[in-house]
Amino acid sequence: QLGEVADHLNFNAFVVGGFVRDMFLYRDNEDIDVVVEGNGITFAKTFSRKYGTRTHTHQKFGTAVIIFPDGFKIDVASARMEYYQFPASLPVVEMSSIKMDMFRRDFTINTLAVQLNPNKFGRLIDFFSGQKDIKDKVLRVLHNLSFVEDPTRVFRALRFEQRFGFTIGKLTSSLIDNAVKMEFFKRLSGKRVYTELVLILKEENPAPTIMRLLDYDLLRVIHPRMKIEKDLKRLLDSAKKVVDWHDLLFIDETYERWTVYFMVLLRHCDLKTTHEICSHLTVAPRHAKMFTETRIGVGKQLMSLERRKRITHAEIFNLLKGFKTEVILYMMASTQSESAKKRISLYHTQLRNVTITITGKDLLAMGLKPGPLFSRTLQAVLDAKLNGQIKTREDEFTFIG
Ligand code: CTP
Repeated sequence: QLGEVADHLNFNAFVVGGFVRDMFLYRDNEDIDVVVEGNGITFAKTFSRKYGTRTHTHQKFGTAVIIFPDGFKIDVASARMEYYQFPASLPVVEMSSIKMDMFRRDFTINTLAVQLNPNKFGRLIDFFSGQKDIKDKVLRVLHNLSFVEDPTRVFRALRFEQRFGFTIGKLTSSLIDNAVKMEFFKRLSGKRVYTELVLILKEENPAPTIMRLLDYDLLRVIHPRMKIEKDLKRLLDSAKKVVDWHDLLFIDETYERWTVYFMVLLRHCDLKTTHEICSHLTVAPRHAKMFTETRIGVGKQLMSLERRKRITHAEIFNLLKGFKTEVILYMMASTQSESAKKRISLYHTQLRNVTITITGKDLLAMGLKPGPLFSRTLQAVLDAKLNGQIKTREDEFTFIG
């Protein structure tokens, strides 16, 4: 259908980038990016008129999104000469629009395109040996200025290297060394660094990429005062174990897994430094609060859970209640005490779900006067239930009686 619309408009249309790369890697990818040699907005609008989809357009970039009734989306971009701006020093010889579009991309593995026009349907376009590099499992930039053009590509390189188990080509690796030496990253805003960091932390297993960032001395790009200690690897591995444990047990519960890793990264940063880091990276307020006050505040709770020889279930509950899953998992990941880990796990698997049936209304009916005694009574009932002293609703009434 996309190809027919393209033919109708006399455009060439291609599916490009990650989708094609992942097809060759036998990996699922639901992000479809289409590039047309022509006006992408006209293409998307014509398609939508014909097939009853919606279109969202960005005039400035000549891009559009086709939105299907079930929410499925296709991104459409225009491959047109006037959109390309290269550093002046880069020799740009005569190229077709699609070749030019591919040439401005980050790595050869991302430069594959498959044509969609019916009479050439399925034709693979591979100007820069992307297919060979996928086969050889190697990441290469297209030209020496790639990281000058966009230093965030260094983060992308390490992310793809670990995600796909590829190696970084020799020249590309020395270009990364050069980018580090020349401090290309100074030009990047905190916001862009944060975006890349979050993408890394959202990977299935971010730990190896973080360790690679450390190899290249790139963690200081996040913030020069980021305090990294020898226990980083252990902490990251521990975070992975904890989130995997959680995800296996609580398949339906959603939470922001990446924030657990980020808190682990911040483990040795004090409150002031963390505030500075959050402000530099423009971290959203709700996350900033979790990364600063909350994360540092749980030190007290952790100490109790680690040090106390004996502790009741009610005490564990009262130490941990109210904390979000992310913070609970961070606590589990950051303690080295097995007994503290067990106590937190007990809270998360059982205690946090314990409730009582008795309410303020019941207390009124029993003749109690509203006031501080009310909440203390309810708390005492809950504590007794947590500690296994009472079980049923009847028990709750007997307990008060
Ligand atoms: N791209 C680039 N330079 C960047 C970011 C992106 O050249 N700094 C190009 C890549 O070639 C990529 C395309 O833009 O194919 C889209 O990038 P992105 O949305 O990040 O998609 P993917 O490469 O598929 O990455 P992911 O699998 O993580 O979604």
